[in-house]
Amino acid sequence: MVAGHEESMTSALRVAIIGASGYTSLELLRWLLRHPQAQIAMLVSRKPEQPISEIFPELLGRIELPITPFEPAAIAGQADLVFLCVPHATAMSYVPPLLAAGVRVIDLSADYRLKDAGVYESWYRHAHSDRENLIHAVYGLPDLCAAEIAAAKLVANPGCYPTSAILPLAPLIKAGLIGPQDIIVNSGSGISGAGRNPSAQHHFPERNEAFEAYSIGAHRHAPEMAQALAAFGGRAVDIVFVPHLVPMDRGILSTIYVKPTVAGPVDRALQAWRAAYGQSPFVRIRSSPLPSTKYVLNTNYIDMAICSYGRRWVITSALDNMVKGAAGQAIENMNLMAGYPQGMGLDAKGQK
Ligand SMILES: NC(=O)c1ccc[n+]([C@@H]2O[C@H](COP(=O)([O-])OP(=O)(O)OC[C@H]3O[C@@H](n4cnc5c(N)ncnc54)[C@H](OP(=O)(O)O)[C@@H]3O)[C@@H](O)[C@H]2O)c1
Repeated sequence: MVAGHEESMTSALRVAIIGASGYTSLELLRWLLRHPQAQIAMLVSRKPEQPISEIFPELLGRIELPITPFEPAAIAGQADLVFLCVPHATAMSYVPPLLAAGVRVIDLSADYRLKDAGVYESWYRHAHSDRENLIHAVYGLPDLCAAEIAAAKLVANPGCYPTSAILPLAPLIKAGLIGPQDIIVNSGSGISGAGRNPSAQHHFPERNEAFEAYSIGAHRHAPEMAQALAAFGGRAVDIVFVPHLVPMDRGILSTIYVKPTVAGPVDRALQAWRAAYGQSPFVRIRSSPLPSTKYVLNTNYIDMAICSYGRRWVITSALDNMVKGAAGQAIENMNLMAGYPQGMGLDAKGQK
């Protein structure tokens, strides 16, 4: 905890992080240490003997909490809200005891994003063991469903790629400005999207100077996009999603090809975006220069632009996968659940 931080807070929200040694945990810690109303009360990991500043040397002198093992009753005694930063399939084993102990949960994994357990099981290839809580989980896109998030006990924080596609597409589908068929989403992501655990595929010599597509037709974020666009746009959509790995640490750029239902320039699309996101603190609409991962690096912004190209419109969106694509959006959800302003503690001045 930052020296003097605790004393300055009145009725702070006490939060715990489970899976404390991972990338999304580190990003949460960076922002929460500056949050005016959040108190980091507990860090939970399978490596309880190790200080967090040994796992993340940048935290030396900034947070001295001991790491503790997973004990739901102890967590409920010390925290009001938990960020679950563990892999899918693991998260669904932690959620039931946490909710039963009375703690609210923001799950950063995919376990509670897909409402249909059968769809989840076919894409993630294992059984869903917590269908009861799945029914009540709220998909945590604060720019599109703030009221539901505010009342939720369990929030499924959206995936990074889906956030980059759903936010630009949903208002256009809802307004009937684009057809629901033949939506093509080409996305490139930095390597931190794969988490901190090393693998041969993500080893530096494999990724450096390499730019390639992967999981064509098989990426698990495709059904998440389709589900959210049907829910927020009001119509079933047909999406082709092609993810790419880009040799950079962080950031996502999505290029999205759609077919407009209206003739002429993109003015009506821009109007729909402005109407949907006029009150959203982190949605920025650009024209020139076009969105770039550079302009959103280490921030909670998503930048989006739209251009007319023959019979199509081409949308580009950019976000930082670790912030708007994970920890930042999770803190927006935390703010809404606690009754704080959506953007509290996330303004650009708070960046590293
Ligand atoms: N990276 C991104 O850009 C991103 C974006 C959106 C969503 N997400 C999602 O957020 C979650 C965390 O991602 P991350 O990038 O932080 O991953 P990560 O860097 O790999 O960290 C995950 C942490 O989970 C814990 N863990 C791993 N396997 C476990 C198991 N079998 N049982 C219990 N705990 C286990 C480990 O923490 P301990 O060793 O401390 O227990 C590990 O450090 C994932 O579900 C991921 O899909 C990630």
